[in-house]
Amino acid sequence: MIHLIPGQNYIEQSEKLAKLLNAKEHNVYYKVFPDGELYARITDSSSLENQIVLIVNTMYPRQNDSLIETLMLINAAKLSNPKHIILYIPYIAYARQDRVFLEGEPVSIDIVLKSLRMIGGEYLLTIDIHNPDSLKFFGDKTYNILVSDKLVEHALNYTENPILIAPDEGALNRVKYAAEKHELEYDHLIKHRDRVTGKITFEPKEVNVRNKDLIIIDDIISTGGTIAKASKTLLKRGARKIIVAASHGLLINNAIEKIKSAGVLKILLADTLGVKRKDPLIEYIDINEIISSTLKEELLKEIE
Ligand code: R5P
Repeated sequence: MIHLIPGQNYIEQSEKLAKLLNAKEHNVYYKVFPDGELYARITDSSSLENQIVLIVNTMYPRQNDSLIETLMLINAAKLSNPKHIILYIPYIAYARQDRVFLEGEPVSIDIVLKSLRMIGGEYLLTIDIHNPDSLKFFGDKTYNILVSDKLVEHALNYTENPILIAPDEGALNRVKYAAEKHELEYDHLIKHRDRVTGKITFEPKEVNVRNKDLIIIDDIISTGGTIAKASKTLLKRGARKIIVAASHGLLINNAIEKIKSAGVLKILLADTLGVKRKDPLIEYIDINEIISSTLKEELLKEIE
């Protein structure tokens, strides 16, 4: 039996996952000390001895706190001598700082993943990390689960024979994955982001979208700038309809408005975060079934 330890950001989804896995969900007592430091206590931790422990947490919102909280849960679980510690973190913060863009910067994702591994995480499952190569910082026992096929399955309810579009070359892996599953055409744009101002521009590239329905697929929507700009560019080139699908919808500030006014008709998001935005434009897609089957059919078979 799996013993699931839920992080504060992902309580509701953890309950669903525990049911699908027939896992025992443990209680964790959380509090914040008067000075702002965090405290966590797995209330029945002795029952974790020699068991498979699954720690589930997501790193948005409260990126820094949820990282510390997850490390505390790993440490607390490890002190009970479990058989294995598996981490399921659908959204891993700092994944976009995956290299030094400007001299003097850190590789932040290296810090995050190495800490999770060093404290005691043995296996890591995540959803569509920004750059899958970053997972090397954790080690080789990682599963980067793509959900773009599932998002496109829903987007097909709103589109006819769509072309799948990646806003940049880096987003092609998830687009190709969905295109192959659904036997759809795909292409990509060429994006430039000014590393100092954050300004995005798209280089002209021949993508024939005239009178076509398009599904733009990205990993993260943060300020909405990329999606809004890509949508405007594609509509100007004659696209008929644009639906957006993303694994992680942070949707900071007025991102929804920005995307709406760029002409997007629907935003489909995987349910990977600790917050959900309420808006008729948005639909959240549950991904617990995918995680449960990856665990049962792949990881658990390997370790049990
Ligand atoms: C960047 O390469 C990512 O894949 C996303 O395109 C980016 O993080 C989206 O950010 P924003 O919504 O702020 O443009």
